Amino acid sequence: MRKAGKVFAAVMITALVLSLSSCAGTVAGISFWEMAIAAGLPADKADDLFERPQNYEIAEPEEGEIRFTHTGDDEESLQKQKVTSKGYVIEEIDGVTYVSGILIANKTYTVPDSYDPGGLTEECYAAYSAMRSAAAKDGISIFINSGFRSYRTQTSLYWGYVARRGMELADTFSARPGHSEHQTGLAMDLNSISDYFGETAEGRWLAEHGHEYGFILRYPRGKSDITGYKYEPWHFRYIGVEMATEVYESGLTLEEFLGIDSVYAVASAYDEYGRN
Ligand code: DAL
Ligand code: ZN
Repeated sequence: MRKAGKVFAAVMITALVLSLSSCAGTVAGISFWEMAIAAGLPADKADDLFERPQNYEIAEPEEGEIRFTHTGDDEESLQKQKVTSKGYVIEEIDGVTYVSGILIANKTYTVPDSYDPGGLTEECYAAYSAMRSAAAKDGISIFINSGFRSYRTQTSLYWGYVARRGMELADTFSARPGHSEHQTGLAMDLNSISDYFGETAEGRWLAEHGHEYGFILRYPRGKSDITGYKYEPWHFRYIGVEMATEVYESGLTLEEFLGIDSVYAVASAYDEYGRN
């Protein structure tokens, strides 16, 4: 969940300490040079500082591209790292995408239909409880309007909106099944599902203090081209205090901060799910 810069600083300090205490150029079989590259240092800078292992080739860290590959004979030691346009590492585990350790569900990235934490995660709910208590001390009353939603629930919700309001409009405010953060157990709609909520004392308190408990306002006003959704002053996503504070202070959406897209690969939901 740390920025590459922080990781790099940590790696550099570790490498410096180790290089002062020993002449060996590796830690647990990984060379200082590889650590520097993995932390985001350009290859020429890493070459200045450390000896490059002979069996490595560098590829530029472009979005979605492999940052570096091991080209030795040992297949098991093959290492690949995909990074976003901002240099954050993308990992896919059991069909779920994590960017810098943050689970991503948006128009580009899905979670499998079987992904079911069974409710808000313990960590998310504990953070919500702490936030609600702090808000109460400020005279602000917060409640969960909609928390975890299963793939099945999102399916009936989304297609209900399509039936009533048409797909084009539904896609601006309701996630297609598998694309909703509500399915991750890490997002919740608080209090009132109304644009006006952002102007209320509760909405303003949440937008200002949510990050102190690990939550970000996920779909800010004027950012629908980036997030994929209209302004939702009620939808908060848990990403942990450290990352939420960084995102809040940046003034960016999660997509902008991490350097990822939120765009459906298949324009029509009928095609995406094979319905007609
Ligand atoms: N309203 C948000 C985008 C959702 O359906 O998950
Ligand atoms: Zn929501």
